[in-house]
Amino acid sequence: MELPFAESYRIKMVEPIFKSTREQREQWIKDAHYNLFNLKSEQVYIDLLTDSGTGAMSHNQWAAMMTGDESYAGSSSYYNLKNAIRDILGFEYFLPTHQGRAAENVLFSVLVKPGNVVPGNSHFDTTKGHIEYRSASAIDCTIDEAFDTESLHPFKGNIDLEKLESVYSTYQHDEIPMVIVTLTCNTSGGQPVSMQNLKDVSRLSKKYGIKVVFDSARFAENAWFIKEREPGYEEKSIREIVAEMFSYADAMTMSSKKDGIVNIGGFIAMKDEELFQNASVFNIMYEGFNTYGGMAGRDMNALSVGLNEVTDEHYLENRVKQVEYLGNRLMEWGIPVQKPIGGHAVFVDARKFLKHVPKEEYIAQTLAIELYLEAGVRGVEVGTLLADRDPKSGENRFPKLEMLRLAIPRRTYTNNHMDVVAVALKNIFDRREKIVHGFRIEKEAPIMRHFTVELERID
Ligand code: F0G
Repeated sequence: MELPFAESYRIKMVEPIFKSTREQREQWIKDAHYNLFNLKSEQVYIDLLTDSGTGAMSHNQWAAMMTGDESYAGSSSYYNLKNAIRDILGFEYFLPTHQGRAAENVLFSVLVKPGNVVPGNSHFDTTKGHIEYRSASAIDCTIDEAFDTESLHPFKGNIDLEKLESVYSTYQHDEIPMVIVTLTCNTSGGQPVSMQNLKDVSRLSKKYGIKVVFDSARFAENAWFIKEREPGYEEKSIREIVAEMFSYADAMTMSSKKDGIVNIGGFIAMKDEELFQNASVFNIMYEGFNTYGGMAGRDMNALSVGLNEVTDEHYLENRVKQVEYLGNRLMEWGIPVQKPIGGHAVFVDARKFLKHVPKEEYIAQTLAIELYLEAGVRGVEVGTLLADRDPKSGENRFPKLEMLRLAIPRRTYTNNHMDVVAVALKNIFDRREKIVHGFRIEKEAPIMRHFTVELERID
């Protein structure tokens, strides 16, 4: 018999989590104004709100924290991280930041001007926020297959080259500061970008003289899918694939809270010294001196170890297979999800799941609340609330996909937890015909409203 698949680690430290009753959850979520971000963590049993900063560090990472060098300037931890970024990702210059959106803030302060356009595959919300805040526009050039959850395209994060070229030929060169390729594409379901697509985007952008920037939060998961799915890469190591991926980028932003497997941190890396010098000015203003940029020395140490661990094939196999395990259980029951299953999360297609809830009543949020009430599982809406209103018209933007994201923290939960999540969703699926109403907004912020929105149930 073939041996079953199991984790490539064992557990040395545990953190208790608590179940609650449905009555308790009814009260808590009402008090939270039906916004899952407003819950206290102890009111949640299994927390799939995000895979960002929620992973478990290894004993080697904890050991590295103890030898962190907290010197303001020139700390050895900075050089450890610099070496890891150069050796694994291939960038000569880098700036630490306190997290991914800070990296965006610093880099875009140099590159993005009012009226600019920034094409890419579906930009993450903070990325789009930082572009729109500068009175520029993000243009989504993702392939159409990404928006059909049933399509089995292996690289649904790919950029449509015709759409990209149309942006390049419509706008003036100085109106397009860069193209951003998000690896994996979070918004479309943790879907990977193929090596061929990275190569083609790089070639086309060179032709038009446009910078290529990778939003690299989940670069290692992307590399895993290239190895699994792209002909010619089966025999290559993850390290070789990662090196080739980044050979097509001029610069990158990173949220280390994902594929750095640390609880906080980020960075910008670039090949061009002039861009580094220009970004340094903003980094010093917003983040801190160039050799710490908002990170403690111990956190830079843990990150340099994390970058090594995340590019380990055994680690990645575990990681992606756990996400797939949850996805497969849901698919067996006919629950509609983004297919194929992505790298960090299972995305449930809420429009197909809750067919009677009107789109004006926030369908994916309705499903997220149902899941919390059913089993104390916290997912997150990736739909109309997240999409914000159009800054010009003030109208709700109804995105192409209305999803409930179940993001799985790295090395944190077991497949028993995944079973609880799957059965909870199945119970809701069995009574889905009875769910006909959702929510209306009581209070919202003008940008990134989903974090603080307050909702009222429609009966
Ligand atoms: N880019 C991508 C693709 C992301 O998914 C995120 C964060 C960021 C940038 C910003 O990084 O949080 O370190 O400032 N995503 C988290 C999530 C919040 O839940 O998907 P950050």
